Formats: sequence, structure tokens, C-alpha cells
Amino acid sequence: MDIQTAMENRSSCRSYLDESVSHDLIREILSDASRAPSALNMQPWEIHVVMGSERKRLSRKLIKSYRERGVTCGPGASKQLPGVFMARARKCADDMVPMVQKMGIDFKEFVNEGSLNFYGAPCVVFIFMDDSFPPERMVDAGAFMGFLTLSAFSKGLGSCPIGLVNSYSAEIRDFLNIPESKNLVISVALGKTDSSKPINGFRTQRATLDEVIRWID
Ligand SMILES: Cc1cc2nc3c(=O)[nH]c(=O)nc-3n(C[C@H](O)[C@H](O)[C@H](O)COP(=O)(O)O)c2cc1C
Repeated sequence: MDIQTAMENRSSCRSYLDESVSHDLIREILSDASRAPSALNMQPWEIHVVMGSERKRLSRKLIKSYRERGVTCGPGASKQLPGVFMARARKCADDMVPMVQKMGIDFKEFVNEGSLNFYGAPCVVFIFMDDSFPPERMVDAGAFMGFLTLSAFSKGLGSCPIGLVNSYSAEIRDFLNIPESKNLVISVALGKTDSSKPINGFRTQRATLDEVIRWID
């Protein structure tokens, strides 16, 4: 698949077939993602892959914690966000609601417990970074994540970045036996898309270029 097709057609997958994916395929995708650029080629990402029954065991732990602590999906901002960004977030949720309702599931439960269950994906990739890096280096991990999702799509797998789990990073570090000096940047669910589920027909729009770009020339 050419890169243009992948960029135009990738979307976040929120329901996966209960089918395993091979280590070889995940390795190929991670190898592609490793080609992402990074400052001084430091490749600051540290990757942990959790698959099969261990992925399910981890999700049980996260969902238990969610039911106790109740931290939900949200913008996660430290200050009030400018209205334009809140409006985009609201539109994303509003557009998703009817798809979830078609499946007869409560929207909040779908997004929150669904995220912590990695939407049933057989594989999840955790991207960690050593806390000695400054926050600017997160962008390198973001590039890795972008390459990862495009490679997965081009190789026939669905993916979804899952940021909600960052609120449960203590539980994840404990599960993976990772020291506190490693920060969880993002996780990405990977697996075969269940195309029969309405939610996977959900497509997000983007702001026009004129809204987000200022030209100086
Ligand atoms: C950093 C990041 C965190 C995200 N966290 C979640 C999440 O916790 N749960 C979820 O369902 N989707 C999550 N997403 C997916 C976004 O909602 C999705 O990328 C966005 O709505 C654009 O849709 P698209 O990926 O289908 O193009 C996340 C995406 C990114 C980049």
C-alpha cells in the first residue's frame, strides 16, 4: 500500500476480532515504526508489547481500578482549553454517540472501559520514555506512534492510540515491572478490525487548512 492511501484511509479501530496476530507481523510493524525520526537519532522510545491472555489480565486490572477511581477519557488539560479545541472534542464525541448506540452500549462505558480493554485488541504496544528526557522529546514518541498506526494499516491491521491508560500508569508499570523512572507516553491497540461493528465505520473530519495554518511569505 502506498503512503498516500494509508494516510487517507487509516482511522481508529474500536472493535477487534478475537483473533491473535503473529509476533512476526507485530515485529514488522515495530520495525517500520522504528524508522521514525528522532532528535539526534536517540530513539528515546522504549517499547513493551502485551499480547493474548496477558493483555486480557492487564485490562481486568485496569478496569477494576477504573471502577474504584473513575478517571475517565477527557482532554486532560491543566488549564481551560480554548473553545475551538473543546468544540472539536465535543463534535468527535457527539458524532460517535449514534454509532455506539446502534450497538446498544452506553457511550461513556464504551469509551472508558473500552479504552482500558483496548477495545478487545489482541495486542497492545506501550511506548515508554526515560524521565531524564525533557517533555519536548515526547514528539519523537509521537512520530513513532504515527508511523506505527500507518504501518499497521498498510499491513491489514486496525489500531487505536489509547491515552486514557496514562491515568493508570502506576498499575501498568506494576504489571510490567517497570521502574517509576520510566514515563508512559501512549499505548496503541493493534489487531484485526471487526468490520461488522458500526463503530468501525466512524470517520472523523479535520479542520480546514485555512483554520489551522498561517502563511508568512
Ligand atoms: C494521544 C492520543 C490519545 C488517544 N486516546 C484515546 C483513548 O483513550 N480512547 C479512544 O477511544 N481513542 C483515543 N484516541 C483516538 C482519537 O480519538 C482519534 O485519533 C481521533 O478522534 C481522530 O480519529 P481517527 O484516529 O479515526 O482519525 C487517541 C488518539 C491520540 C493521538
